[in-house]
Amino acid sequence: MKSIIYSFLLSTLFLSVKAQDIKPGAIWPDEQGIHVNAHGGGILYSNGTYYWFGEHKSEKTSAALKGVTCYSSKNLTDWKNEGIALAVMPDGSGSDIEKGCVLERPKVVYNEKTNKYVMWFHLELKGKGYDAARVGVAVSDKVTGPYRFIHSYRPCAGKWPDNMSETERTSTVKPEDFEKWWTPEWRQAVEEGLFNRRDHAGGQMSRDMTIFVDQDKKAYHIYSSEENLTLQIAELSDDYQSHTGKYIRIFPGGHNEAPAIFKKNGIYYLITSGCTGWDPNEARMFTASSIWGPWKQHPNPCRGDDANLTFHSQSTYILPVAGKKDAFIFMADRWTPKHPSDARYIWLPIQFENGLPVLKWMDKWNLSIFD
Ligand code: GAL
Repeated sequence: MKSIIYSFLLSTLFLSVKAQDIKPGAIWPDEQGIHVNAHGGGILYSNGTYYWFGEHKSEKTSAALKGVTCYSSKNLTDWKNEGIALAVMPDGSGSDIEKGCVLERPKVVYNEKTNKYVMWFHLELKGKGYDAARVGVAVSDKVTGPYRFIHSYRPCAGKWPDNMSETERTSTVKPEDFEKWWTPEWRQAVEEGLFNRRDHAGGQMSRDMTIFVDQDKKAYHIYSSEENLTLQIAELSDDYQSHTGKYIRIFPGGHNEAPAIFKKNGIYYLITSGCTGWDPNEARMFTASSIWGPWKQHPNPCRGDDANLTFHSQSTYILPVAGKKDAFIFMADRWTPKHPSDARYIWLPIQFENGLPVLKWMDKWNLSIFD
C-alpha cells in the first residue's frame, strides 16, 4: 500500500511538474487538446489572469479569415480558448477588416482612464497585398471581447519626427530621383528621411508593430515604417486610441521588423528581427534610457546553435511575468507559411549576462528558472 501511495504521489508530482513546462517549438495544446492558434501575439495580464491575443491562422492561408483569438491562463502553460476577440467583417462588407484582409501582430492594452481594453494591430486591406501599411484599433469593455473596430490609418500624418533635422525636413530629394534602390546614395537618402518626407502628408507606413505602456501609463506604438527600412516610436493619446503626433525615427535604413520591448531598472530593451518575410534571421538588440533615445545597438542576444536564425523564429512580444522581479519571457513565432496554423511558439526566458539580455535555447523550461 505504502509503495502504491508513494508511486501515486511521485506520478502526480511528475505530472504537475511536467504540466508546468514550456516547450519551445512543440505543439501547444489548449484545454481541448488543440494547438493554440494565436500567432504574432502578445499577452495582457489582468486581475490574476494572462490573456494571450494572436492572429488566428488557417490551414492554407495567412490572410485573416476569422480575426484575433484570445486564450486565458493562470500559469502561462495551460491555456483556455476564449474564442475570437475581434472578428473580421463578412465578405463584401467593404470594412477595413473585411474577411481576407491581413491582420497581424495584435497587442492589447488596458486603459485606466476609460476602463477599456484597446487592441492595436497591423492591417493590410483585402486584395492590396502589403501596400496599405496601416495600423488598426479596436476597443472592448471586456478583456476577452468582443472588440469593436474603431479605425485604421497611417500614423502621424502631417507631423515631423522630433529627431528629424530642418535640412532633412526641407530636402527636395524624392524617391523618383533614384533609378535603383540599395545604392550607397539611395541608402544615404533613406537615412536622411526620403520615405518619411514622401509620406508626410498622408501618414507614415506602419507594418510590424508592438505597443508598450510605460510605468507612468503613457503608451507608445513601435512600428516598422518607411518601407520597413526605419523604425518609428510614436506616443499614443491618453485613451490609447490614437496618436498624439509626437514621434521619432530610430535606426533609419536599419531594416528592422518584429519589435518587442521591455523595461528593467529604467532601461528599455528592444529586440527586433531583420526583414526576410516568413524566413528567420538574426535578432537585433537595442537599449535606451529614454523611450525617445538615444538608442544604442548591441550584438545579437541569442546564444548557441542557430543563434544566427533566432532559433528559427521571429520576435513578437516580451512578457513581464507577474509577481516575479525582473522575470521576462521572450515570445517568438516559428512561421510555417505552407501550413500557417501549425506555426510554433518559441518562448524563452530572458537571462542576463554582463548586464545585457541573452537568449539560450532550451527544449523545455519552467517559471522556476526565475526564482
Ligand atoms: C514578416 C512579418 C510578419 C508577416 C510576414 C509576411 O516579415 O514579420 O508579421 O508580415 O513578414 O511576409
